[in-house]
Amino acid sequence: MAEKKYKVWLDGRIVAPEDAKVSVFSQTAMRGANVYEGLRGYWDDQAGVLNVWKLDAHLDRLFQSMKIMRMASPYTREQLRHAVLDWARANEFREDVHFRLVVYLGDGGSGGLRAFKPGEIDLGAVIFGGPRPHQQALEKGVHVAVSSWRRISDDVMPPRVKAGANYQNNRLAAMQARTDGYDDALILTREGKLAEATGAAVLIVRDGELITPPVTSGLLESLTRKFILTLQERRGNRPPVQREVDRSELYIADEIFVCGTAEEVTPVVSVDRIAIGDGKPGPMTRQFQRWLWDAARGRDPEWRADLVPVR
Ligand SMILES: Cc1ncc(COP(=O)(O)O)c(C=O)c1O
Repeated sequence: MAEKKYKVWLDGRIVAPEDAKVSVFSQTAMRGANVYEGLRGYWDDQAGVLNVWKLDAHLDRLFQSMKIMRMASPYTREQLRHAVLDWARANEFREDVHFRLVVYLGDGGSGGLRAFKPGEIDLGAVIFGGPRPHQQALEKGVHVAVSSWRRISDDVMPPRVKAGANYQNNRLAAMQARTDGYDDALILTREGKLAEATGAAVLIVRDGELITPPVTSGLLESLTRKFILTLQERRGNRPPVQREVDRSELYIADEIFVCGTAEEVTPVVSVDRIAIGDGKPGPMTRQFQRWLWDAARGRDPEWRADLVPVR
C-alpha cells in the first residue's frame, strides 16, 4: 500500500505512518463507524504546484454524511480544509496523489453502538494517502460483471452516506467479480435497476444520448458524475438524461464508462463478457477523459475555481 510510506495527519498532528493508530476499542475499528472522502491532488507541472481537485465539494459531502449519521464533527470545516493542505504540504508531493479524509467514531464505552452525542463518544479525523500514477485501465478499459449481490438501499444503509461500513456491500460484489475473472462489478438495486460500480458511478451512451441512473437509484452522489453531467449540459449535443437503467440496456449500449475521483473516467469494454460497442473505449468516453484531465490539470479556465493549490 503506497499510502504507508507517507506522513499522516491524525487529530491535529502530522505523524509518521507507523504512529498513525486508532484504538481497537473504537467503533471505527469494530464496526466501520466512520464517514470519509476520497480526494485527488493533481500535479501542475507548469506552475510547479499540487492542486486539490474539488476540495470544497468533498467537504460539503463529508458534512452531509456526518449529518445523516448524527456525528458532531470534531473539527470545523475550515480546520479540515487547512488539515488537508497541511498534510499535502508536509509530504512535499511532486506528482498526482489520491488520499482519504476520514472522520471516525472512537471509543464509546459499553454503550458504543448507541453512543453518538458529544460527551458520549470521542470523534477523530485522519488524512492519509500517496501517489497515484496513471492507471492502465484508463486506456484499455475494464471488463465487468453484473453482480448477484444487490445494492444497499436508502431505507437500510443509505448509499448516499460515504460510510466505511457501507463498503462491505461493495466488497462482496468486488470479491465475487474478481473470483470470477472480472475487473469490477456493476451492482443493481433490489428492483433490478442499475445502481453503480463498486467504487464509481456508471454512465451509458445510447444513440448519442448520455444516460445515468438518478441519485435515488442506490448510489453515492458522485462529484465526478455531477461534473460529467454539467459538461454534457454545457458542451454536448444533447442534454444528459437521468433515469432508471435496465440490465439489458447495458448489453446494447454503444459506450459505457464508470467515473469517480479514484477511477477518473474509465471505459467499460464488456459486461458479462458481452462486448460494449466494438469492444474498445468509445469516442464520448475519450472526450470526457480529456475534459476531466484538462479541468483537473488547470488547463481549462472554466474549472479553475475547483482547484485549491497547496502552497
Ligand atoms: C461507491 C462509489 N460510488 C461512486 C464514487 C464516485 O464518487 P466521486 O466522483 O465523488 O469520487 C465513489 C468514489 O468515491 C464510490 O466509492
